[in-house]
Amino acid sequence: MELGEGFFRPAARASRDLSVLIACDQFNGGLTSISELRWLELMSGYGIRPIRWGLEAIASKQNTKKKPRSLEMWINDANSDCLDLLEKNLRQITNKRISLRISNSLAQDLLARAFFEKQTFHFVDLDCFGSPNIFLQPVIQVLQPEGILLLSSTDARSITGHDRSSAIRTSFVSARSNPSNWEIALRIQLGVIARQAWLLRRGIEPLCCFCDGRAFRIAVRINRLIPTHQESLIGILGRCQFCGAQSSQTLLSLKSWQECSCNSRKGSWLFNGPLWLGPLQEKIFISKLLALEKVHPVHIDEQSKKLFERLKLDSGLPLFSWDTNELSKNLGLKGPPPLNHLIEALRKKNFKAHQSAIMQGQLRTDAPFSQLSKICHECS
Ligand SMILES: C[S@@+](CC[C@H](N)C(=O)[O-])C[C@H]1O[C@@H](n2cnc3c(N)ncnc32)[C@H](O)[C@@H]1O
Repeated sequence: MELGEGFFRPAARASRDLSVLIACDQFNGGLTSISELRWLELMSGYGIRPIRWGLEAIASKQNTKKKPRSLEMWINDANSDCLDLLEKNLRQITNKRISLRISNSLAQDLLARAFFEKQTFHFVDLDCFGSPNIFLQPVIQVLQPEGILLLSSTDARSITGHDRSSAIRTSFVSARSNPSNWEIALRIQLGVIARQAWLLRRGIEPLCCFCDGRAFRIAVRINRLIPTHQESLIGILGRCQFCGAQSSQTLLSLKSWQECSCNSRKGSWLFNGPLWLGPLQEKIFISKLLALEKVHPVHIDEQSKKLFERLKLDSGLPLFSWDTNELSKNLGLKGPPPLNHLIEALRKKNFKAHQSAIMQGQLRTDAPFSQLSKICHECS
C-alpha cells in the first residue's frame, strides 16, 4: 500500500484489526441469511481498512455448496489529495466478488444521498477526527437492523473531563476528570450513541470498546428495536474528590445523593454523565472474533490479540473501577496494595473483583467503599 501526505496512523492498528475481524465474521458466517452484504468505510484515508477487508476478511474460499455471497464496499474520503492513491491501492482487491464504489465526498453528503436512495449497510466503519457525534444519527439511519458500527473518537479532552464546556457542546454531558477517565469517556460516548439510536427507535449492544491511548474505539451493534428497559442503563456516576468513594444512579430513579464516607470533610461528589452504565464488551462476540484467525488469513497483531483477550475477560461490570495508586493515596497507605492480592482478598469475602481491561492497574469490584478501604488496609 502507498501513503501520501494525508493521514495514516500506525498506532491505530488495534482498531484496524478489529475492523478486519468484524468484516471477516460478517462475510464468513456472522450474517448467514444475507446474500448481499454492503460495507461502508466512510473516512478511508488511503484505504488501509478496505484493502485489508478484501485481502484478509474475504480471502477464504467460499463454500461452493452455498449460493455465493456478493459484497459491495463503499469507500469514501473527502480529501481529494488521497483519491489517486486510494484508487491505486484498491486495485489490489478488484475482483469479481467485490463491487467497489469509491467516492470523494463529504461524509455528510454521502450519508444523505444513501438515505435518500434507501441504500443501507451491514457494517459501517467511522474513523473520524475529533468527535463522531455529528455523524451518528445519519449513520444509524443507513445501518441495517443488527448492523455493526465501529467508531472512533479522538475528542479526548472533552470526554475525559479536561474541557468541560466542549463536553457539554459535543455530548451534552457533565465530564469530570478522574482516575478512570478512559472508561468514563467510553461510557459517555456509548450514552450519546444510545440516545441517537433511541431517537430512531433502535437499540444498542456494545460489542468491544477500548482506548488505544489517543482514540476511543467502540464497536456496537445497532438493534432493530430498543430492548426492554434499556433506558435503565443510562445514569450518573459520582466520585468523591476527597476520599474517592463512588456511587451511581440511573436517570430513571434519580433522587438526592447520599453522603459519602469522608469523615472530616463531608465529601464532595464530582458527577459524570448521563452515561452508559451497562456492559462494555460482549464476551461471546470477542471470542468468536479471536477464533477466526485459526480458519481465515487475517493478520492480527500480537498486541491487538492480547488486548482482545483482556477485553474478553472484563465485561465492564461491576461498574466501579479503582486505581490502586489512588486508593493508596486517599487511604493514606504506605504504597499501593498489590492488585492480585487485593482481588484475591475481595473474592475471599465474596465480592466480585477482577482486573479492568480498559485501564491497566485498575480493578473492578462491587465491594462497598467501606469494605474496599478495610481490605486495602489489610493488604498493604
Ligand atoms: C482518522 S483518518 C482515517 C484513517 C483511516 N480510516 C485509517 O484507518 O488509516 C480521518 C479521515 O477522514 C477524512 N475526513 C475528515 N472529515 C471528513 C468528512 N467530513 N467527510 C469525509 N472524510 C473526512 C480525512 O481526510 C482523513 O483521511
